[in-house]
Amino acid sequence: MSYVSKSVAGAIFLAAGLTACDAGSPSKPAAPAVKDRPWMDTALSPEARAERLESEMTLDERIRMVHGVFAVPLLGPILPGALGSAGFVPGIERLGIPALQETDASVGVTNPFDVRKGDGATALPSSLMTAATWNKDLAYQGGAMIGQESWKKGFNVLLGGGVNLARDPRNGRTFEYLGEDPLLAGVMAGEAIRGTQDQHVISTIKHFALNAQETGRMILSAKIGEAAFRESDLLAFQIAIENGKPGSVMCAYNRVNTVYACGHDGLLNRTLKGDWGYPGWVMSDWGALHDVNYATAGLDQQSGEQLDSAVFFGEPLKKAVESGEIPAARLSDMVRRILRSMFAHGLFDNPPKQQEIDYDANAAVAQRVAEEGIVLLSNRGGMLPLARDAKRIVVIGGHADAGVLSGAGSSQVIPVGGAPVSIAMGGEGPGAAFVKMVFHASSPLKAIKAKAPNAEVRFIDDAYPSAAAALARDADVVVIFATQWMIEGRDVPDMTLPNGQDALIEAVAAVNPHTVVVLETGGPVQLPWLNKVGAVLAAWYPGARGGEAIANVLFGDVNPSGRLPMTFPASPAQLPRPEIDGYTLPPGEKFEVDYDVEGSDVGYRWFARKNVKPLFPFGFGLSYSAFAYANVTVTGGETLTVSFDVRNTGARAGADVPQVYLTDAAGIKRTRLLGWSKVTLEPGAVQRVTVMADPRLLADFDAGAPGWRLREGTYAVALGASAGDFTLRGEAAVSGRLLKP
Ligand code: BGC
Repeated sequence: MSYVSKSVAGAIFLAAGLTACDAGSPSKPAAPAVKDRPWMDTALSPEARAERLESEMTLDERIRMVHGVFAVPLLGPILPGALGSAGFVPGIERLGIPALQETDASVGVTNPFDVRKGDGATALPSSLMTAATWNKDLAYQGGAMIGQESWKKGFNVLLGGGVNLARDPRNGRTFEYLGEDPLLAGVMAGEAIRGTQDQHVISTIKHFALNAQETGRMILSAKIGEAAFRESDLLAFQIAIENGKPGSVMCAYNRVNTVYACGHDGLLNRTLKGDWGYPGWVMSDWGALHDVNYATAGLDQQSGEQLDSAVFFGEPLKKAVESGEIPAARLSDMVRRILRSMFAHGLFDNPPKQQEIDYDANAAVAQRVAEEGIVLLSNRGGMLPLARDAKRIVVIGGHADAGVLSGAGSSQVIPVGGAPVSIAMGGEGPGAAFVKMVFHASSPLKAIKAKAPNAEVRFIDDAYPSAAAALARDADVVVIFATQWMIEGRDVPDMTLPNGQDALIEAVAAVNPHTVVVLETGGPVQLPWLNKVGAVLAAWYPGARGGEAIANVLFGDVNPSGRLPMTFPASPAQLPRPEIDGYTLPPGEKFEVDYDVEGSDVGYRWFARKNVKPLFPFGFGLSYSAFAYANVTVTGGETLTVSFDVRNTGARAGADVPQVYLTDAAGIKRTRLLGWSKVTLEPGAVQRVTVMADPRLLADFDAGAPGWRLREGTYAVALGASAGDFTLRGEAAVSGRLLKP
């Protein structure tokens, strides 16, 4: 829901003393008497099972399945049977249909408004940090960890899978998404979704589509041409859906080319269900439904109905079906799609069983993601890794004595055992409870002390640059933790570190150049002091064991291998939109964001097109080792296949992420990531890597055909360590053809 910007209407019934237990059991497993319930025959396909079951249902039962509530006692008492979470759709006992118990989201199981008293969960690092690992296995493991925690807490739908392309680093949900490239984002989202669904929990993919900024998200119209859309944001969804097969798609709040995304026939019926043959169901975002006719545009289920102006998919839909205004067959299709996903992902056959969770094991997954997602941005004179025999270490700021920062909004995870620091950040009404800066209980200070037991390690907050500089002056090493908090519902106004942190870093670096800056940010920020400090780590929002992960990288127990999933622009002036559209408009005033400015050239492609040098390019990241590439071969035909050797030329074991980019498509200049590999190598070791391009990345979308038009000709590629550092090149001929849309 829009916790921040939406005023909450209606009476507030705070259900005193409500617990998960009072809320009832999650979902009663269906009685397995196959002869009475032929849809319980597991030998049948999910489609056949859904069809059999749906044909048994009454009109009222069908209607019941296509709308659900926001299951917190904020807008009324929560329904019996609801566990308490973002969403609930009651089951139908007569037919053994389990309830849908829906929880947010991509970084862990949430507990909005503490509806399940004290029920914390394991927080993965931000999704952007998962993307920064460029490690598909870790994306899968993270998704599986959350899926398993969801299931053991009684949930069967995870509202995860945020894959909106990062078109603007100031987007308040940058941390919830997987960066700026459709291939990287699509592949990583697909893996996370697969991981979740392997635990018998349906994952959504969201927010479909072009919800690329939070300012005016309920009203703005995202303007984009069909070809540009297909080659960018929609391609990320398409790849993730193909690989992850999410049971549900959540449509977005915003309008696309003037039409609301949840009532967008072109997006839902034509592209998603038509061209892509998507068999699952489309659920609305919480408060994104405005008309019963969205059913004919392809929306299958209304979510969080208290947040819409009416329960459109309740009585109004029933009446429309009875009058024939909306065909009964359409309602059947809506229900079958929901049931099909429920059968396909085990909701009938493997219903959740509430049980104890091994939080230590799950935190270890979060730590692995953080360790591989930290990006070493600068290391002047090899300041890192730190020596363990440093005598005096000064740690400054960022509440590093207590924990690590997390991003806020519907994805906010409350740590197991509670947050060591939780700071109210303003706001009015009941939704203000959400406007909180939450730290996870993983203290970098403590972890640093553990690494250097003989050093004197002192901490000072970041309130006064003069005091911090005075303490830092004689230290062997200074580590400054700099934070940028982000929250759903608001964009950050610019790319600076807030609260005078730049001045603090300048003041400290001026007296002690042995300064490391650890960034805990939602996304890219400006680093005006970059050349005055010794080293910089991007640690994003590093999750449940972020402190330990940071210390492991600082002291070299982990060799950094994260790579930027987003370009770090030098300043907003380099962006397609130097100002955030709508930022200064009065709330409620509709406006348009023109994404045709960059079209499908999002992020690094925009920088390549404009020939502008960013602060750090997409794909960039240093290591404590060094890697070299050789013997590249490129073969053509149906697509491009690129093979090469990667050698660890340094003195330490480590992982590298060689990346293959298209640079020329049959005579047209292009810069597009075609593939990558994450390779772990001992010093001196060599590995041969092969990357095969998805032909859609070589093609242009032809909206008239429609399809992906691959021109006959020579295609050139470059191999490099980032989008700004191409070392080897090659080319080959590819045959021309039209691929299905
Ligand atoms: C967010 C979704 C979220 C939903 C339920 C909305 O505000 O946009 O991402 O899943 O709330 O909490």
